[in-house]
Amino acid sequence: MAKRILISNILPEESRRLIPRGFEVDYNPADEPLAKADLLRRLRGADGLICHIISAIDDEVLGASPTLKVVSNVAVGYNNIDVGAARRRGIVVTNTPDVLTETTADFAWALLMAAARRVVEADQYARSGQWRAWKWDLLWGGDVYGKTLGILGFGRIGRAVARRAGGFGMRILYHDAQRPDPTVERDLRATYADRDMLLRESDFVTVHTPLLPETRHLIDEAALRAMKRTAILVNAARGPIVDEAALVRGLSEGWIAGAGLDVFEEEPKIHPGLLPLKNVVLAPHIASASLDTRLAMAALAVRNCLAVLEGKPAITPVP
Ligand code: GLV
Repeated sequence: MAKRILISNILPEESRRLIPRGFEVDYNPADEPLAKADLLRRLRGADGLICHIISAIDDEVLGASPTLKVVSNVAVGYNNIDVGAARRRGIVVTNTPDVLTETTADFAWALLMAAARRVVEADQYARSGQWRAWKWDLLWGGDVYGKTLGILGFGRIGRAVARRAGGFGMRILYHDAQRPDPTVERDLRATYADRDMLLRESDFVTVHTPLLPETRHLIDEAALRAMKRTAILVNAARGPIVDEAALVRGLSEGWIAGAGLDVFEEEPKIHPGLLPLKNVVLAPHIASASLDTRLAMAALAVRNCLAVLEGKPAITPVP
């Protein structure tokens, strides 16, 4: 009998074409997540599921098809999937690391630069018709070059962010539960710091940890108050790592100078307190959204799914 794959949301044609004819594909081309009842119904009898982070894959969903062998997430983060439940059911979970590392690091830098140099405010001002003459004190920002960058989470993306900091002559501090090989520290000129020291000494704090119970609200009120009043926070990892309500207070009351955010606690909702603030740059979860990277993510997700259904090891199973 033909193996069945459910692709629960939009995926480029190039990647769908990788699926050989012998497979039966149920494709939902929409951007919106399937309602749970629809997901459960369409999963019935499926062997593989290719999904985006907008789908919550809990134990009930995993149990919808007794033949389900693989859930292939088109993302590096997989906090939308109950990995423990999948393991108990013998279902392989895969993600798309590596292919998005550089693109995501680029975007963290875009947020950092935009927040430091007030690029969004400058754009709005330039378009507004208020610009009458060159002005000495217009839109002063903070320097990036030569400052201290604090990286929380020193995996692939955190290290890619560090590599870029070399060009800006920055001092690099990092914190991670796991210390990398000393050669990594040496090559990247990065110094391990405990979390408190990193928060205290960094001019820019950028978050690159996965969302885990222990990283939820890693940046809370105390962390924000520990940062320099001139510091900028960047989050292109997962929203709930930062306590958004505390961040609103911190940005409004000047505990820190600014922030650049690509992710939010309850996407697509953004804390209403953030919207009127000029000292925060907001983006709608697009850090990996370059054409090449999105195509590479989709292709890897399809290949992961096919590998498992063809009885081979997944290319990038989640650890
Ligand atoms: C996007 O958020 C991802 O985890 O790839």
